[in-house]
Amino acid sequence: MNDVLSVLNGLQTVSVTDALWGDGGKGKIVDLFAPWADIIARGTGGDNAGHTVIKDGKAYALHLIPCGIFEDNEGKMNVIGRGVAVNPHTLAQELAMLRSHGRTYNNLRVSNNALLILPHEIALDLLEETSKQGVGSTRRGIGPVFTDQVARYGLTVNDLLNPDAFASNLKRSLEKCRRLFAGYDPERVKETLFHERLANGVYWKDGYFDIHAIIDMYLMYARDFAHLIDDTDKLMHEAYGKKRILLEGAQGLLLSVKYGTYPYVTSSDCSPEGLAAGVGFHKGMIDKNFSVVKFLPTRVGFGPFPTEIGGSASERWCNPRDSDPLTEPEEQEHFGDVSANDPNPLKQSYALRSLGREYGATTGRPRRIGWPDTVMLRYAVKIQGPDIIIMKPDPYGELDEVNICGGYDYCGQPYRIARRRIINNARIFNTDPNTMLLNQCKPTYMTRPGWKGSLNNITSFQDLPINLKIILNHIARMGNANLRLVSIGPKAEATLLVD
Ligand code: IMP
Ligand code: MG
Repeated sequence: MNDVLSVLNGLQTVSVTDALWGDGGKGKIVDLFAPWADIIARGTGGDNAGHTVIKDGKAYALHLIPCGIFEDNEGKMNVIGRGVAVNPHTLAQELAMLRSHGRTYNNLRVSNNALLILPHEIALDLLEETSKQGVGSTRRGIGPVFTDQVARYGLTVNDLLNPDAFASNLKRSLEKCRRLFAGYDPERVKETLFHERLANGVYWKDGYFDIHAIIDMYLMYARDFAHLIDDTDKLMHEAYGKKRILLEGAQGLLLSVKYGTYPYVTSSDCSPEGLAAGVGFHKGMIDKNFSVVKFLPTRVGFGPFPTEIGGSASERWCNPRDSDPLTEPEEQEHFGDVSANDPNPLKQSYALRSLGREYGATTGRPRRIGWPDTVMLRYAVKIQGPDIIIMKPDPYGELDEVNICGGYDYCGQPYRIARRRIINNARIFNTDPNTMLLNQCKPTYMTRPGWKGSLNNITSFQDLPINLKIILNHIARMGNANLRLVSIGPKAEATLLVD
């Protein structure tokens, strides 16, 4: 029997996070688990995230609103928690998109304590990312908004309910930031302020930001959701232990500011711990976390990715410094028809990206793609727990062989995250994914034959091709993980219980 929701038996509070660099398909799993839950809550990230959910044959791209919103008419509550960074324009747009499809959001609640992304924070992100200092961010203002929170001049969603407080807090924040803007060429600042994500210059006045324009625009956006702002921490605590709660992660553990490949990370803590804190809980309140693990991991932006197919050439290809990366159709035109088994790694990486449609939901950028990495998985299991869901082997039935990384070599020595300390001249510990070391690591692979075929219409784990089952079990065993579910397609039915 393929009763996938049986993995939730006996649980009350569950979280879904990504073990790697995000884009692993949390949205599908949250959507699948949503009928089980009474409350679906987000606690991390902002509109840098992107989930695509297929509902009644339509694809919905959500950036801020939890994927449980499609159960709103069933009376389920969806929460944007205190740990989320809210761009009010994005939220208003997302609500309009739902309305235009006849979808309701009566039970959506937005935390009064959620961070408010401001135009100067978006501008700073754009300015940094177009300089040599960028990490390849999504340019949504995420780094600056979390910086401003910690630096004590950020604003919260609650300010939108109090125009006077909003004006005085905004004034203070803008004054503090003025010094930062003074460090950039005024022409570039002006150009940046005319970016479409900054409402094409509406906020620009006399070389800096027009506070009145910001207030007017933000209060206008807020009209759509002011009635949804609430003390969500209180709502969550009241529900705890009585209702079934599903926490929806954003990004992935290796992009966590605390546990990821720092500094090539996002600015919130994407781990279950960060997710719990982002809804006003602590980690101990989560009964179980499920980590999604994408069969072929991907990464967007810069930063270490040891099993990347095509290595640094692929990293540069996907993140050109001086131009925009190619879009999906442009790449197709550039490469033409390429086999998934092409001996040239850069071409092979393109072929696999194309098969997996691995282009950013938020930015359209091509994602770097790599082989399964059980070193990173072991690390993730240590932090997030052993229950994993392997996602999306289905596009890769053409592969003759699959390389599974079981360890890394560093300067001729085995490098093992969470096991042995590295022996070398640098005084570095290898208990976390250290960027300096990872950049020098060479993965060692075990090669397994592919399964050569389609996974269409398979409805039970036992019916998967034997070669694929061997690979999946190998990944789970090497990762110290319990494989609970396998997803072999975007539809809910294409999820197999591992029994
Ligand atoms: P930021 O979150 O926009 O500051 O970007 C920081 C890093 O996180 C960059 O490498 C982004 O590509 C990456 N990132 C942020 N959000 C996502 C996501 O939803 N999926 C994958 N990568 C992301
Ligand atoms: Mg995504």
